[in-house]
Amino acid sequence: MYSEKVMDHFMHPRNVGEIEDANAVGEVGNAVCGDIMKMYMKINDDGVIEDVKFKTFGCGSAIASSSMATEMIKGKTVDEALQLTNKAVAEALDGLPAHKIHCSVLAEEAVKKAIENYYENKGTDMENN
Ligand code: FES
Repeated sequence: MYSEKVMDHFMHPRNVGEIEDANAVGEVGNAVCGDIMKMYMKINDDGVIEDVKFKTFGCGSAIASSSMATEMIKGKTVDEALQLTNKAVAEALDGLPAHKIHCSVLAEEAVKKAIENYYENKGTDMENN
C-alpha cells in the first residue's frame, strides 16, 4: 500500500529537528486527524533557503511528506519553494494512498506558512516582496 520511497522517508526522515536561528517558521495542522507539522527555515539575503528542518507530530505519510518536501526546497529560492505543490511531493514519493493525500497537503501548507512568516519578519508581505 505504501511505496518504498514513503517507507524510506518515514523510517529515515531527512532534515528532522529545529533550526535555532531560523528566520522563517510555519506551523500547520489538520483539524480532522489532529496531525501537526512545524517547519523551520534559514533563508539568506538572496532569498535562498540555506537550511530547512521540520518536526511532524503525525502519521507516517505526513512524516514522509515533510521529509521529501524539505529535500525538494533545500537550496531553492523562496519563490521556487512557493511553487511546490502537494501533488509534486506525493509524486516524488511515488504516490500516496487516496486517503493520505491530505498528509502531503500539510507539507505544502507548512512550506507556504514558513515563507509567509519570513516576509512578516522582513516587514513585507508575500505579494509585495
Ligand atoms: Fe493526517 Fe496524515 S493522517 S496528516
